[in-house]
Amino acid sequence: MFSRALKPVTVVVAQNGKNFSTSSQRNFKVVVAGASGGIGQPLALLLKQNALVSHLALYDIAPVTPGVAVDLSHMNTPAKVTGHKGPEELANAIKGADVVVIPAGVPRKPGMTRDDLFNTNASIVRDLAACVAQVAPKAILAIITNPVNSMVPIASEVMKKAGVLDPKRILGVTTLDVVRSCQFIGEINGVDPRCVDIPLIGGHSGVTIIPVLSQSKPPVKLTDQKKIEALTQRIQEAGTEVVKAKAGGGSATLSMAFAGARLTDAVLRGLKGDANVVECAYVASNVTEAPYFANPLVLGKSGVEKNLGYGTLNQYEQCLLKAAIPELLKNIKVGVDFANK
Ligand code: NAD
Ligand code: LMR
Repeated sequence: MFSRALKPVTVVVAQNGKNFSTSSQRNFKVVVAGASGGIGQPLALLLKQNALVSHLALYDIAPVTPGVAVDLSHMNTPAKVTGHKGPEELANAIKGADVVVIPAGVPRKPGMTRDDLFNTNASIVRDLAACVAQVAPKAILAIITNPVNSMVPIASEVMKKAGVLDPKRILGVTTLDVVRSCQFIGEINGVDPRCVDIPLIGGHSGVTIIPVLSQSKPPVKLTDQKKIEALTQRIQEAGTEVVKAKAGGGSATLSMAFAGARLTDAVLRGLKGDANVVECAYVASNVTEAPYFANPLVLGKSGVEKNLGYGTLNQYEQCLLKAAIPELLKNIKVGVDFANK
C-alpha cells in the first residue's frame, strides 16, 4: 500500500552541513523559472535546503534575479546556486536540468478567475517549454503557473511539436490543494495535519478541484453532509480566500512554495529510485474522458511510473466529478488550440 502521509519534504535544516547526503547519492539540477517572484523566491529558499539538489538554477526576467541567486548562495548548504536573467540566459539556465519548476507568470487579483490569466501566462509557459524541449528534453516539468488546467496541455503540445513529448514528464502542480485539505482536515479532527492523507483529483480551479474526503486517512470527523459540502467548497475556493485576503497583493505564495517544494522533493526521490513515492498531480491521463486529469501517481526514475486512478467515489463525489469534466475539457481545449494556432 502506498502512503502519502508522514512523508516530510527532504529539507534538512543544519548549521554545519553534517546532515547532508554526500557522494554516494545522485544529486540533481533543478531550475526554478520565475524564481524572483512571490512563489519563486521562497521556493528557491526551500530547494536550497534540499539534500537532493546539487545545482539550483534561478531564471527570471526580473533584474533582481542575479541578486536573489547571490543571496541564496551564501546559505551553508551544498546546492550550488546560479542566477540567469532574461531570455538570452534561458538556455544556459535550463541546459542539463533534471527538473524544471515553473511559477513564471502573473497571479490573480480579487474578482479574477484563474482563466483570466490565460492570455498573459500562455505564451510565457509556451516559450519556457520550447526551451526545455530544445536543451533539456528529458527534464521533468512541474508547472505551477495558472491556469494549470490549460498550461499543462500547452507545454505538452509544444513538446509534441518538437518531437520530444514524454507525457510521464509533464506535471501540473496541484499539491497546494492537497496541503490545504490536509491542514483543514487536521483542524477538524484535532490531529497533526502532516498525518492526514487524502487524494485530490480533477484539476486546479474551482469545480475541478475534488478532494476525495471519503478516502481521507484518518476519516474526516464530519457526518453531516452539509458540513462535508462546506469543507469541499472551502478547499475549492481556498485560492480565492487568499486572493481576497491579500486585497490586490497577489495570490498564495508562501503556502505554494511549501507545496512546490514538497512536489519537487517527491519528483527527485522518484528520480533517485526511492520506492513508493506517491503524490497527486495533473497529467496526461486516460482515467476519465478528460485527456488531462489529476489523481495520485507513483513517481519514479522517468517521472510518472504508474497512475493510481481515483478509487471508489461516493455519490456526492461522483457528482463533483461529473461537474468537473466539462470544465476540464474546456480548459484543455483552450490550451491545445493556443499551442497549435
Ligand atoms: P509573481 O508576479 O510574484 O511572480 C511571477 C514571476 O514570474 C515574476 O518574478 C516575473 O518576473 C516572472 N516572469 C514573468 N514572465 C516571465 C518569463 N517570461 N520568464 C520567466 N519569469 C517570468 O507571481 P506569483 O505569486 O509567484 O505567481 C506565479 C504564478 O503561479 C501565477 O500564475 C499564479 O496564479 C500561480 N499560482 C499557482 C498555484 C498552484 O497551486 N498551481 C498557486 C499559487 C499561484
Ligand atoms: C491557489 O490555489 O492559491 C492558486 O491557484 C492561486 C490562485 O489564483 O488562487
